[in-house]
Amino acid sequence: MAKIIAGIGSSHVPAIGAALDNGKTEEPYWKRVFSGFEKSKQWMAQAKPDVAIVVYNDHASAFSVEMIPTFALGCAAEFPPADEGWGPRPVPVLKGHPALAAHIAQSVILDEFDLTIVNKMEVDHGLTVPMNLLFGQPKDAWPCPVIPLAVNVVMYPPPTGHRCYMLGKAIRKAVESYPEDLNVVIFGTGGLSHQISGPRAGLINSKWDKAFLDNLTRDPKKLTRIPHIEYMREAGAEGIEMVMWLIMRGALDDKVDEVYRFYTVPASNTAVGHIILENARKSAGARKAAGKSRRGAAGKSRQAAVRQRSHRIASKGTR
Ligand SMILES: [Fe+2]
Repeated sequence: MAKIIAGIGSSHVPAIGAALDNGKTEEPYWKRVFSGFEKSKQWMAQAKPDVAIVVYNDHASAFSVEMIPTFALGCAAEFPPADEGWGPRPVPVLKGHPALAAHIAQSVILDEFDLTIVNKMEVDHGLTVPMNLLFGQPKDAWPCPVIPLAVNVVMYPPPTGHRCYMLGKAIRKAVESYPEDLNVVIFGTGGLSHQISGPRAGLINSKWDKAFLDNLTRDPKKLTRIPHIEYMREAGAEGIEMVMWLIMRGALDDKVDEVYRFYTVPASNTAVGHIILENARKSAGARKAAGKSRRGAAGKSRQAAVRQRSHRIASKGTR
């Protein structure tokens, strides 16, 4: 059986991608940002997920204003990087997982979430930047297949936080009904507070961002009640991207272990937030029961190793 082992929240600031692509990661301004993801890359290298579901928003790369699906699931075999105006980013083409994606589409749509099925799509910085931050800069291939889930947060009305959270739960149900043993991680990307135009351009609200991260771990249901207008007022017009983190959070247990957090201001004109959440450790009884499940021995030992290492990271994590 497939299962979601962890959720990752990460900003997807385009300037981070430009810094990577132009060899600026060692410059002091950018080193401050990239150093916050070093432990995360170690965590990911140890977790070795079989598939990553990446929730992100398209920035008029794959979808123009002529067509904006609320939720669009990438079911293709591959997803090339988009040309966002200065040529495609020099990152490998992302391989998809069409079988799992089709299974998720069927399960979620039959659960009454009306996804758009996308069989051909280029992906922009919203997806590729978090991939770099967690997987580094591979030259030839990413270490695991990716299932993109594009969410409309660019044209009113975006989905509510509650809708996103419930979609996360439906995705989890779908993953857990897939028969192959797969360890899946799910990304929620975007944000945190920022506004790129208008009289409030440059707005950053660190206090609100940190409270969001606190509640993401401890009380996500509280976040599901935040109306759009509050995101706009407190986190800026583009802060609405944060609803996408609630899809990731909905796919996890109610109680999670926060194994790592990083927050810095600014990167470009954006607050950068990052978090790694694992499903809480099971009791001894639950572990024993889990041992009788169809999950393979290799998968179990790998998960145990991930948890052990994650707690080591947690003790050193940045807040
Ligand atoms: Fe964005």
